[in-house]
Amino acid sequence: MVSLQTVRKSNAHIAALPQDLVALFIGATSGIGQSALQHLSQHVSSPHIYSVARATSVASHENLLATLRQSNPTGTYNLITADVSLVSEIDKVVDAVMQKESKVDIVFMSAGFMAYEGRHNTGEGLDPSMTTRYYSRMRTVQHLLPLLNKAESPRIVSVLAGGMEGPLNEDDLDLRDPPNWSFWNSSVHSATMGTLALERFAHQNPRLSIVHWFPGPVDTPGLAKARKFGMSPPTQMSQVESGERAVFLATSDRYAVQGGFVPMEKGLETAKRSGGGIFLVDPQGESTDNERLLFDLRKRCVDEAVWSFTENVFADCAARASSSKDEL
Ligand SMILES: NC(=O)c1ccc[n+]([C@@H]2O[C@H](COP(=O)([O-])OP(=O)(O)OC[C@H]3O[C@@H](n4cnc5c(N)ncnc54)[C@H](OP(=O)(O)O)[C@@H]3O)[C@@H](O)[C@H]2O)c1
Repeated sequence: MVSLQTVRKSNAHIAALPQDLVALFIGATSGIGQSALQHLSQHVSSPHIYSVARATSVASHENLLATLRQSNPTGTYNLITADVSLVSEIDKVVDAVMQKESKVDIVFMSAGFMAYEGRHNTGEGLDPSMTTRYYSRMRTVQHLLPLLNKAESPRIVSVLAGGMEGPLNEDDLDLRDPPNWSFWNSSVHSATMGTLALERFAHQNPRLSIVHWFPGPVDTPGLAKARKFGMSPPTQMSQVESGERAVFLATSDRYAVQGGFVPMEKGLETAKRSGGGIFLVDPQGESTDNERLLFDLRKRCVDEAVWSFTENVFADCAARASSSKDEL
């Protein structure tokens, strides 16, 4: 376990990082992402922050960014209005970053929810709980690879369920057939397909450090919603601690394939990576091992099947978006 004291010591060194760090947050309008955004902005000098909010959250997020501008006026804080429950909206997000930046150092993704109320497809015909937790996240990484590869030590943090991957319904990856869908199955698919796709990105982009974090129960608005549906996990990390730990995962060289960010605190060693080359991390910052399941999926080329399926989904979303533009 990485103690909170170690996390704080490490985060205090972020100020010494080179200026003009570029970070994109998707999911920072609430919960873990919001706390991570607040902590990173506090520590880093002259950051270029990009943060995505859907229309219903723009006003409150703009207020949050205003407080960050006051507490760290060296930074620039850009709000991008987009609804990441639609894959096609990711183009807007990426364009907004690409117009102004020539590199991206950190992509922090924590949008998502458990669909306790059932599956209500978006206009793209997808389950929004899977889009926010899987498709849109992977689309973001895919599109930002050119800018990530220009950063000195690029890092991706995806907050979901690293190490908690489970068996996939390989004949119905999107769980379209109603008997195959449940809020639990869509969570397992999002996490497992996420790890496999992130491992693919890691393999093809060897300088890219990728963390898939399972934060455990964290006392956020997301968890409060879960409680309404009868879930009440026993011990909960505070939202503040989750943000401190998230920033540690995003900046410590402990989770880097090559150094370049915050040097490791004494007594720590580089975290172990999965067989597919990413850091699957437990709530306390230790590597977890789900190799038995993941090895079998890779051996049977399920990772390739997942990616090929995902690319078809992306193509379908792009086609729908362009035909709806034509209709206007
Ligand atoms: N908290 C936990 O105990 C826990 C444990 C394990 C894994 N996780 C996962 O970690 C991630 C972050 O959790 P959290 O507790 O920080 O969640 P949260 O407080 O509910 O925040 C979720 C974020 O996702 C966005 N979002 C939710 N539903 C959306 C939708 N339909 N369309 C577009 N954006 C949507 C929210 O935007 P708005 O502000 O606009 O709603 C917000 O930015 C989630 O994927 C969650 O499943 C959480």
